[in-house]
Amino acid sequence: MTARLADDAAGIARAARLLRDGQLVAFATETVYGLGADATDGAAVAAIFAAKGRPRFNPLIAHYPDAAAAFRDVVANHAARALAAAFWPGPLTLVLPRAAAGRVDLLASAGLDTQAVRVPAHATALALLAATGRPVAAPSANRSGAVSPTTADHVLDGLADRIAAVLDSGACAVGVESTVLDLSGDQPVLLRPGGLAVEAIEAVIGPVARGAKPGVLRGPGMLESHYAPALPVRLGAVSVAADEALLAFGPPLPGAGAVFQLSAKGDPIEAAARLFAGLRALDAEGRAMGLTRIAVMKVPDAGLGLAINDRLRRAAAPRG
Ligand code: TXA
Ligand code: MG
Repeated sequence: MTARLADDAAGIARAARLLRDGQLVAFATETVYGLGADATDGAAVAAIFAAKGRPRFNPLIAHYPDAAAAFRDVVANHAARALAAAFWPGPLTLVLPRAAAGRVDLLASAGLDTQAVRVPAHATALALLAATGRPVAAPSANRSGAVSPTTADHVLDGLADRIAAVLDSGACAVGVESTVLDLSGDQPVLLRPGGLAVEAIEAVIGPVARGAKPGVLRGPGMLESHYAPALPVRLGAVSVAADEALLAFGPPLPGAGAVFQLSAKGDPIEAAARLFAGLRALDAEGRAMGLTRIAVMKVPDAGLGLAINDRLRRAAAPRG
C-alpha cells in the first residue's frame, strides 16, 4: 500500500524518515512530481528504475535544499554559481562534473562523469530535502513512457503499490520539467528546454548552444552518451580465461584474473546498484594487472535485468 502523506510537519518528517530508510517517496516540486530516493544509496536508486519500469538507466537529477549542498557533490564553475544565484530555487537543472568526494551514487548518473543537480522552488520539497539531509535523486514520478505527473493522483495512477508514499501537495505550479543545461564542457549546452526560458539563462551567462552536441545527444532529453570501460567487454560468458576480469552474477565462473560480484544471490536490483561501480573497478584493476578484457556472466532479461543488459550491450558495442 502506498501511503498518501499530508503536506504538514508530520507528513514531511515521515517522508524524510522513509527516504533515509532507502524507501521511495514521490513529492511535488514546482515543475512536476518527482520519484525520490536517497541518492547516496545505490539500492534505493536502483529501486527507482524498477518502480518506473524503465528499460534503460537514464541519469537522474539530484535535488538539494540549497546551492551550497548541491555544490558539495559537483564541481561548480563561475557560470554555475551565477545561475544558481539568479535562478535557484527554480526550474533549472545544471549538469556539472561529479566531485571526487561527492556523495551521490554512480548509478544516479548512469556511470557518467557528470551529475545533474537542482534546487526546486517548492516549500514542501525544500523542507523535505532539508529534513532528509542527503541528496535526493528524483526523475519525474511516472511509469516509463507515461506523461509527467502534476498531482498526487497522477502519481498514484501509475505507481500505486510500487512506492512507499506520496507526499500530497496538490497541483504543481509550472507543469513542465526543469530546463537542463550542461555546464561541464567548454560551452554551455541546452539539453532540455523546460520551465526556465533559455533567454533568461543567456541574460546571465551569455550564449547557450541549442540542441545537442553532435554524436552525443539525439534530441532533448535523449541521452546517447554512456560510460564504456577502456577494456573490451565480452557478454554472456560461460567460461573465463586467466587473462580476463569477470563481472559475476551469481556463483562466479572459476579461473578469472579478477572478479567483481554484482549480486551473489542473483538479485537484479542489487546488481543494478553495483553495475557502474563494478565496470569501473574491473577496468582499473584489469588494466593494472595487464588483463585483456572484461567477461560478463549472463544476466536474465527480466525486471531490472533489461536495463542492465541495455547498458552492458552499449559497453560491449564496437567503439566509433
Ligand atoms: O523538473 C524536473 O526536472 C523533474 C523534477 C522531479 O525535478 N525531474 C525530471 O527528471 O524531469 P527526469 O529524470 O524525468 O529527467 C531528467 C533529464 C533527462 O532528460 C536526463 O537525460 C537529463 O535530465 N540528465 C540527467 N543527468 C544528466 C547528465 N549527467 N548528463 C546529461 N543529461 C542528464
Ligand atoms: Mg521524465
